[in-house]
Amino acid sequence: MEKQLLVVEDDLDLCQILREEITERKPDYKLIFAHTEAGAKKALEANEITHILCDIRLPNSSGVDFARHTQRENHKIKIILMSGFPDERELAPGKILGVSHIFSKPFDYDELVQAIDGEDGNAEEYFQLHIDFVNNYIVYPFDIFVRLNASKYLKIFPKDQQREGDNIDKFYSQGIKYLWVKKTDYLAINEQLFVPVRRNLLSVNKPIPFALYEYKEFNFKVFLDEKALFTKEHKEVCKKRELKTLYIRDCDNDKLLSYLDKSIEEILRDSETGEDEKAGQLNDYALTRIESAFFNPTAQEIQDLAKIQKNMTQFFASSKTAINSFFEEVQEEKGLYQHSINVSALTWGLFLQIEKDREENPKTAFKDVTFSNNDTKEILCMAGLLHDLGEISLKTQALEDPEKITEAYIKEKHPHEAANLLREMNDIDAKLIEVVQNHEEFCDRSGKMKKNRSQLSLFAQMISLTNYYDELVTLKDLTKGQALMNVKENENKFYKKLIPLLEKLVQQNHSL
Ligand SMILES: [Fe+2]
Ligand SMILES: [Fe+2]
Repeated sequence: MEKQLLVVEDDLDLCQILREEITERKPDYKLIFAHTEAGAKKALEANEITHILCDIRLPNSSGVDFARHTQRENHKIKIILMSGFPDERELAPGKILGVSHIFSKPFDYDELVQAIDGEDGNAEEYFQLHIDFVNNYIVYPFDIFVRLNASKYLKIFPKDQQREGDNIDKFYSQGIKYLWVKKTDYLAINEQLFVPVRRNLLSVNKPIPFALYEYKEFNFKVFLDEKALFTKEHKEVCKKRELKTLYIRDCDNDKLLSYLDKSIEEILRDSETGEDEKAGQLNDYALTRIESAFFNPTAQEIQDLAKIQKNMTQFFASSKTAINSFFEEVQEEKGLYQHSINVSALTWGLFLQIEKDREENPKTAFKDVTFSNNDTKEILCMAGLLHDLGEISLKTQALEDPEKITEAYIKEKHPHEAANLLREMNDIDAKLIEVVQNHEEFCDRSGKMKKNRSQLSLFAQMISLTNYYDELVTLKDLTKGQALMNVKENENKFYKKLIPLLEKLVQQNHSL
């Protein structure tokens, strides 16, 4: 998208300099100038402005008010304020909704352009704290940085450590008034009190047993009171403000999870809710649950994961097109947890393709395969959800021992780690553990344990294929076509007869 920068500045000389300095650095920006608030509003209506650079003091009006107004109208516009007065430099951008930076005149133009340019720049990652605020703590619950330049920050105090001597005062005496904290860390402090709930899981016309909060300007604001009805209007407001996540305060985690369990069951039973919507909500719910199981792999968490598996398999069995709706709904989502859900759904789908092949094709290669009982699908689905369970625990261990636990080490050992975690729990089916342990083995001995096809169960062969395919799509961003091509180029790795079935599953809708 073209960047259209509206500069609101009454000083015409400065406008000229800004034009030259910005154009020199970023010739592709479209620059639009306004000298009053009224002019700026007109320019906003007439153009598709993406960025605003605005003086705090405008003739007869305030740049801060203008920023607030603009933010209400279109919160996607990135706003940067400029100030020529020392007292205004004390304003923290986070205190003014939607303002990402405040620059003091005279500017460092490189920094200014970087601030305009950075989509996810440091302005999004860090925010400044006045040194007095930091001074109030003896032990900081967050890492503290000094800002070296627009994109460089230096950690000066690690979190949770006792303050030594007068270190902070030293910075004070050097004239450094602001220190910086990572936004994610700051949020984490509050997340001890606030637990996120995905908007999609809130069912319309159901009273909510706890108050919901939205996160704004480093604060949580009440969105809905306790026991209020979540109406269609609320849903619209969420959509309009792009609130994907709401928060619950002081949440008892068990209470939240049982609420989510109940909600998803109601959603899946509800005949009014469309298949696509069900698929999306099921996916959101599964993400929450898997995240929690991966971070805390206890027998209880795994048992809870089995509830998702039940909901998923029930949904997939509910109609011929359910699995396609599911893939259509989730295809934009990325990451390890999504990958786990996808592998689960794909393996289930592959199983359905095998069954179909057995019904329709008298010469099927799967004639002699016996799928003994209903547990089959459950094991496949669970194995998909759990196969990469070992990754998070190894990544955590890597923090303590980065020399030993490298990325290559994690790649090699995570199936083993997952299998070990599962073995420690009672009542986990040995078949499930075998599939998890072998999910990165290949039929041609090219896996880390160098097993061959005869050493792998059919389930393990299935998941090795679906995992390989979905890693390319969900973790490496290939298109489905490219991923299938890659699978075919490496057909020796897989049980070849499975490949056309996977192809059918991901290419043809309604093929089941
Ligand atoms: Fe893996
Ligand atoms: Fe995987």
